[in-house]
Amino acid sequence: MKKLIILLVPIAALFAAAPGPSPKVNADPTIPAEIETLLNKYGCNACHSIKKKLVGPIWTDVGAKGYSKKKIIKLVKKPEPGNWPGYPAMQPQTTVPNDALDKIAGWIVSLK
Ligand code: HEC
Repeated sequence: MKKLIILLVPIAALFAAAPGPSPKVNADPTIPAEIETLLNKYGCNACHSIKKKLVGPIWTDVGAKGYSKKKIIKLVKKPEPGNWPGYPAMQPQTTVPNDALDKIAGWIVSLK
């Protein structure tokens, strides 16, 4: 048993010392609390998730489209369902105040 511990300690130290990977693609981004609140408040989370395809596409898939923030704001207000074959059409989301939409769109852009 003691031998095992002696063996494991240097291995653990090795892992701890190794520099963390810095991937360009954020594979598992967590939703910032402020954004999560807005997504819940305006009902976006009913159809979109960060991990799972629901009625609408996964947030990271939307981010991967490489839209500008301005374009996302436009698409939320006036969806173009042709961008998502196989999905039903999203209804225009017109109840979201501009400042909230600005924050949501900025976050989606950061997901790519
Ligand atoms: C009732 C379900 C539903 C709700 C609620 C919903 N969406 Fe969607 N959303 C979809 C579907 C389905 C698509 C894909 C088809 C489309 O774009 O019309 C989509 C697509 C999108 C896209 C991609 C647009 C494109 O053309 O690539 C964005 C951005 C988006 N939604 C943001 C939002 C935001 C922000 C909210 C909340 C204010 C929201 N959605 C609420 C169902 C929904």
